[in-house]
Amino acid sequence: KTKLTGKHLLTLLDFTPTEVAQLLEEAKALKAALKKGEPHTLLAGKSLGMIFENASTRTRVSFEVGMTQLGGHALFLSSRDLQIGRGEPVKDTANVLSRYVDAIMIRTNSHKKVVEFAKHSSVPVINALTDAFHPCQALADALTIMEHKGTLAGKKLVYIGDGNNVAHSLLAVGAKTGMDVTVASPKGYEVDQAIFAKAQEAAMQTGAKLVSTNDPEAAVADADVLYTDVWASMGYEQEQTSRAEALAPYQVNHKLAKGAKDDYLFLHCLPAHRGEEVTADVIDGSHSAIYDQAENRLHVQKAILAALIR
Ligand code: CP
Ligand code: NVA
Repeated sequence: KTKLTGKHLLTLLDFTPTEVAQLLEEAKALKAALKKGEPHTLLAGKSLGMIFENASTRTRVSFEVGMTQLGGHALFLSSRDLQIGRGEPVKDTANVLSRYVDAIMIRTNSHKKVVEFAKHSSVPVINALTDAFHPCQALADALTIMEHKGTLAGKKLVYIGDGNNVAHSLLAVGAKTGMDVTVASPKGYEVDQAIFAKAQEAAMQTGAKLVSTNDPEAAVADADVLYTDVWASMGYEQEQTSRAEALAPYQVNHKLAKGAKDDYLFLHCLPAHRGEEVTADVIDGSHSAIYDQAENRLHVQKAILAALIR
């Protein structure tokens, strides 16, 4: 086992394929322990600071409950109430919080801010969603696919829609696990080229095939997993109208899904907008595993916390 103690989790691209596999195995073990009612208070007496600059349902609750189940404690720190929201420097906030807590989780629009925070933090910093990445989500997605499809290597995930933070992290987890990932987005909404290039380089280690395309119909061929996300991410709400227009042909509906494998799995990180990026028949239909996926945030994050803190 590789020791991950003290490491930051800003993007999965910073982790080796072995480390990613290890986190997924640990998540599986912790999930099994919880279901069997076995105690697993690996973080007794430890504290997690959770800084939120944006709204959250799943991330907040799963991290907070996860810390409780591990025997530790989590503090919900809204930037509205922290001095950082009134202009206290990131450097000072990071240094000070590091003296109190054992790890810090941050949700903010700015990936740069999380990188800066990590630079000044003496305890592990976990990215709980930035404009660039959502690593905890992608790990939960990987666990869900493993549970439903048996393996990741050689499977094909097709993400349809905005080339956003979630799309970037799916490329990263594919690259690290050997799962093929195709992202189909309209012109102007493709994944970030620099991030795609980094994922592509990482994929050489595992043989994962990564593709970025503008053609959703061609993309879905042979898909084991169909995935989509909101058209206007947090911070882009004012672009709702133009995005809805550009992304309409990229809606995941029955017609598009027919191009995937017969037993395709549908995933969405949530929150979802039925009738926009996905139709109700697909997201609420028999292929959908969205609630398993949301549950797995809990198990995966417990594995992350246990690995980085201990
Ligand atoms: N998927 C996800 O991160 O959900 P929340 O925004 O509710 O945390
Ligand atoms: N892409 C979405 C994910 C929300 C969990 C956003 O950034 O708002």
